[in-house]
Amino acid sequence: MTVVRIGPHRLYLGDAYGIRPTLGRMDADVMDPPYKFRAEGGGHYRKARKGMEQIIEEKLHEGFDHSIINPLLCGAVVVFCHNDQLAKLLPYIDGNFERPVVCMWQKINPQPVANKHYRPDAEPYIHAWSRGHHPSGGMNELFRIVTARSSRGKEKFGHATVKPDAVMDKIVRNVRGSTICDPFMGTGSTGVAAIRAGRTFTGIEHNPRHFATAVARCTAAWEGQQSA
Ligand SMILES: C[S@@+](CC[C@H](N)C(=O)[O-])C[C@H]1O[C@@H](n2cnc3c(N)ncnc32)[C@H](O)[C@@H]1O
Repeated sequence: MTVVRIGPHRLYLGDAYGIRPTLGRMDADVMDPPYKFRAEGGGHYRKARKGMEQIIEEKLHEGFDHSIINPLLCGAVVVFCHNDQLAKLLPYIDGNFERPVVCMWQKINPQPVANKHYRPDAEPYIHAWSRGHHPSGGMNELFRIVTARSSRGKEKFGHATVKPDAVMDKIVRNVRGSTICDPFMGTGSTGVAAIRAGRTFTGIEHNPRHFATAVARCTAAWEGQQSA
């Protein structure tokens, strides 16, 4: 296992399910795990579904083990998911946290529709918290919908599912406390937002190429924050 330290922040190269329980309690786990959805098909829209082959190759459509969301290890959790996952994920979270709510962000440039699914121009994420970790900024701010262009992650960072800075900045502002962990950090979008906001970030990623991108992005965010 490799650990890179960037100021007070720690980035781990390795498996989230093995590493996260060893890191202790954080104020919030903010995660964008592999979604569970049908990535095949698309008919004549297939060519326009950019990033889908990489998603299949990296198994980013096969879902994740919900047990990584552990109320003993975090005061609050923010978890992105596909619309189809909500029915299973919400009961799991509801039993483990005081209150879960479903929030949305709006994508200006969604992938074309496939498999008779809705055009995914609004993406959900669940924000749930235990007592003492109520979101910052009140409920209006929590439910505010950020409209953003999907990050063109494949072209810029070689990753098919990079979250936009505006979305991550808003989510980090909603989270109370100082320590934030992202066990599926990909290219480090949560880390960039957390570091810029003066929080202490811990991230885990098992793909060495994405890990290197996360280290570069978080280092730049840290240096920017130091010189501000
Ligand atoms: C949906 S992507 C996250 C993208 C990220 N939000 C960003 O903006 O770059 C999920 C990431 O989790 C990583 N991943 C999947 N399973 C993992 C595991 N067991 N341990 C660590 N990382 C894992 C994948 O390699 C992928 O980069």
